[in-house]
Amino acid sequence: MARVVVTNRIPASGLELLREQHEVIAWEQEQPPSREQVLAAVAGADAIVTLLTDRVDGELLDAAGDQLLVVANVAVGYDNLDVAACESRGVVATNTPGVLTDTTADTAFGLMLMATRRFGEAEREVRSGEPWRWGMFYLLGTSLQGKTLGIIGPGLIGIATARRARAFGMEIVYSGRSPMDPAAEAELSATRLATEELLARADVVSVHCPLVPQGRPDSTYHLIDAAALAAMKPTAYLVNTSRGPVVDEASLAAALRDGTIAGAGLDVYEDEPTIHPDLFDLENVVLLPHLGSATHETRSAMADLAARNALAVLSGQEALSPVTRRTT
Ligand code: GLV
Ligand code: GLV
Repeated sequence: MARVVVTNRIPASGLELLREQHEVIAWEQEQPPSREQVLAAVAGADAIVTLLTDRVDGELLDAAGDQLLVVANVAVGYDNLDVAACESRGVVATNTPGVLTDTTADTAFGLMLMATRRFGEAEREVRSGEPWRWGMFYLLGTSLQGKTLGIIGPGLIGIATARRARAFGMEIVYSGRSPMDPAAEAELSATRLATEELLARADVVSVHCPLVPQGRPDSTYHLIDAAALAAMKPTAYLVNTSRGPVVDEASLAAALRDGTIAGAGLDVYEDEPTIHPDLFDLENVVLLPHLGSATHETRSAMADLAARNALAVLSGQEALSPVTRRTT
């Protein structure tokens, strides 16, 4: 029996999978643990199950000890993992791709609708208690039909978002380090563009690339900066369900205030749970609290996949979804 430490609360099905085979030490409290509590808890672990709010770095890996075999992150994004630190200690790191694709694409599309149709602003108006009435020119938004969606990062979630957009009558363009899967590209009639060209053409830009930190040649940190926002149409919208630091939040707030772009829908932020204060004053931005994969079904599937990854490595097999230095 190995020792599996689960740093935070996760859905029961994932814990049960682990408990069938191993000793499981799981954080049970509603309130998340402090960094110190995580460092203390992982001591002696053969496997650690982490959330995106855990910073998995050399310090944490060393706190676990040399026997550690696997860190199973319950998220598709793994910018919270120091992959090189894992590799240098022979620790396998895993993520949860695939199981949250549709749920996250739903979030991206929901933000797109909310932003373009001003649903957040409208709901705030109704709840304000001020009288409202139907009007020919009351709270008019922008139609998606016939417009162009620009997908930055044509991975599984980008493709699933584009599929929803096609059902709404949108055209698809995309940019990314690699081309889209050819079958998906054909199905979506998607056109690959350079990112600068995509920014100039798209009516909605939706970001689906991973966060790759500064200083790497393939870095996506502040990929959407002031210049990128200026390259967009003044009628265009930005949607981000990937990771906050891919967008320069201060520049975005300025662009939304100055009319450089028409609006935005955000699920992620540069310094969660802090949000740039200027964004709160703007009606043309929708702010969600990182709900991309937040359904009962999907969170259970993520926990199960993380558990299966840990179990595979503990039994000497290949992980189901090991992380590489970067996904699409
Ligand atoms: C959520 O943000 C994830 O990466 O799974
Ligand atoms: C991974 O980044 C995905 O798009 O699923």
